[in-house]
Amino acid sequence: MGKDVIVACDFSSAKATFDFLDLFHKEERKPFVKIGMELYYAEGPSIVREIKKRGHKIFLDLKLHDIPNTVKKAMAVLSSLDVDMTNLHAAGTGKMMEAALEGLTKEDGTRPLLIAVTQLTSTSEERMQNELLISASINDTIVKYAENANAAGLDGVVCSPLEAGMVKKACGKDFITVTPGVRFADGDVGDQARVTTPKKAKEIGSDYIVVGRPITQATDPVAAYRRCCNEFID
Ligand code: C5P
Repeated sequence: MGKDVIVACDFSSAKATFDFLDLFHKEERKPFVKIGMELYYAEGPSIVREIKKRGHKIFLDLKLHDIPNTVKKAMAVLSSLDVDMTNLHAAGTGKMMEAALEGLTKEDGTRPLLIAVTQLTSTSEERMQNELLISASINDTIVKYAENANAAGLDGVVCSPLEAGMVKKACGKDFITVTPGVRFADGDVGDQARVTTPKKAKEIGSDYIVVGRPITQATDPVAAYRRCCNEFID
């Protein structure tokens, strides 16, 4: 499994997305692109097909969470879009995750990578315990959700780079960790609380880093992307 930098294309329109991706037309390495809810809900499945046609790998980050039958059918639709990676909430439990895998698997047996969100990084331990009545620690909850995802046959989890080590320890080194919350050592942290540099994420053992604003808002996005790749992959 190859390490890669996934660029979070958090734009609100196809035009803004293509203006950004056009900057990379001379690059040998085409960025792996994350399409989130904002762009997908604004533009629909055509945005996935267009970006795919340009030769990019795609992580469709829609974080499904519903009853197993609904998630299975929705995953079958996403699979037909030929994305490379997609995700769901582990909170839907093992039955939902197994149904998702079934829906995602094509007739020839192939399927995109399926990654589970454990606890969102925006959820504090205090809120998880007080509002969701989960009395375990947030770290134990994350590890348990990762173990559930692993048992259901999923490929990995989205987590903070700082959690990647404990997830690998519990689920094995081949269980994929996809980690947002990445910043350059000399860059703005913005609204992310627990951040690491691409270099540190590599040392910790992340398989894919998800990087948005440090690339999309950079004065020179191509240079920022190259810098990420140099630190994380090369
Ligand atoms: O701009 P920035 O690098 O902070 O973007 C990070 C991307 O990763 C965003 O698309 C954000 O929604 C996503 N993400 C995250 N934390 C999570 C899950 C997803 O930052 N726990």
